Amino acid sequence: MTFEFEKLTILRDAIVAHDSQKYKQKDPFAMKQELAIDVNGLHTDEMEKLFVQIAAMTPTTVDKTFWNQLYSWRIPEGTIAEMLACYMNNSMYTFKVSWIQTLIEKAVIDHMLAKIGYHDGDGTFAAGGSMSNMVAMLVARNEKVANCKELWLQNNSLVAYTSDQGHYSVRKNAGILGMGRDSVRAVPSDGQGKIRLDALQVMINEDIAAWKIPYLLNLTAGTTVLGAYDPIQEAVAIAKKYDMWTHVDASRGGGVLLAQEHKHKMQGVAQADSCTWNPHKMMGVPLSASALLVKKKWIINKHLSEWATYLYQSDDDDLNLGNKSLQCGRRNDALKVRAARKKLWDAGYEARVVKQFAMVQQALKRIEESDLFALVLKPECLNVCFSIKGHQADEICGGLYHQNLLKVGHWSRNGKTFVRLVCVNAELDTQGVDFFFDTLLEYLWNQS
Ligand SMILES: Cc1ncc(COP(=O)(O)O)c(C=O)c1O
Repeated sequence: MTFEFEKLTILRDAIVAHDSQKYKQKDPFAMKQELAIDVNGLHTDEMEKLFVQIAAMTPTTVDKTFWNQLYSWRIPEGTIAEMLACYMNNSMYTFKVSWIQTLIEKAVIDHMLAKIGYHDGDGTFAAGGSMSNMVAMLVARNEKVANCKELWLQNNSLVAYTSDQGHYSVRKNAGILGMGRDSVRAVPSDGQGKIRLDALQVMINEDIAAWKIPYLLNLTAGTTVLGAYDPIQEAVAIAKKYDMWTHVDASRGGGVLLAQEHKHKMQGVAQADSCTWNPHKMMGVPLSASALLVKKKWIINKHLSEWATYLYQSDDDDLNLGNKSLQCGRRNDALKVRAARKKLWDAGYEARVVKQFAMVQQALKRIEESDLFALVLKPECLNVCFSIKGHQADEICGGLYHQNLLKVGHWSRNGKTFVRLVCVNAELDTQGVDFFFDTLLEYLWNQS
């Protein structure tokens, strides 16, 4: 049976409609009214129109107006690989139904492990950084509490630590996993947004004195808003004294491992027990691609495998990847990571990361050149945070969004609002950064 290739023209037309971005955003009600998505039983030509319309009504996340998220432009070979994975429609749980796809995932995991410095490690792909962090927290919990996997969480005095800049998934996952969201202690961060080790030590002492059981330290390598890298090496040394699992959430900033000049920011990661790394952020792989990497082989299997004799009927556990994944049916997210790497290799990726940081430098230059802007902190990752004198950043970012000029996020710390510019789209280069600042300045001028 062969695919109806003429259907692919729909895809081409939809891509063209999407990329031209002629559609102007409306309120959700008006948008819903415009679309015939709820109508049943459309003819093929009507379906074609519908796909094109949907694509046109979806905002682009890859052009020079988009600076809002930690991902953006995707490497074309990665997109093709994703489409191919979709077309082939294999599930990654057994070798029997995925053959070479299994070997590709294993090769990608091995490559990521080598970059981290885990020599006998293992890994699994999950549906995003939040899920990868969840697997790490589950393994950390089960390693600490005997029989937790088979029975229940009898002892709920567990506490985890993360900085107050850590990703919200850590608290959310603690709720999902039965420890409760309040079992996560938010350790204060310093002026650079890094976890304060003195405060961490005090909190651990307090918790132990209160008969709590510290089981996890989550460190962030590239915090979501400020882009700060926690001091991994020193923090891991503290946590190990208390027999805690140490996890590095490098969802956002793991890409620095690919560049000689920047990889020192994650020094000490090889000593941690696990690390989340999302190729769909800095590495330009299409959403979603997130891996949980662990230092010890088989430890994910130990906590995630389950008897399923209807499924695992041939080949051994090392090839049946479902034994170490959160999901049962699972698409191959590794194929697009492999394709992107095949395109760029180490040198290409290194150049890409260097280019991303050159964009950061250009942003700093533009901030320094204008009396209107003030830098919030020296960027360590690709997030450039700056305030706008005499203006609330939330209002400015809202105005830019509603006028379809720029999409960029904002936040506030210590009562001060600021813009978070994410220089992740290496395709735009420094001219893209200039476009951003020129547009922003023109908007501010028009406001005055
Ligand atoms: C530090 C950090 N961890 C985890 C995540 C969650 O990743 P995902 O969006 O893939 O679930 C993010 C997302 O921005 C993040 O910045």
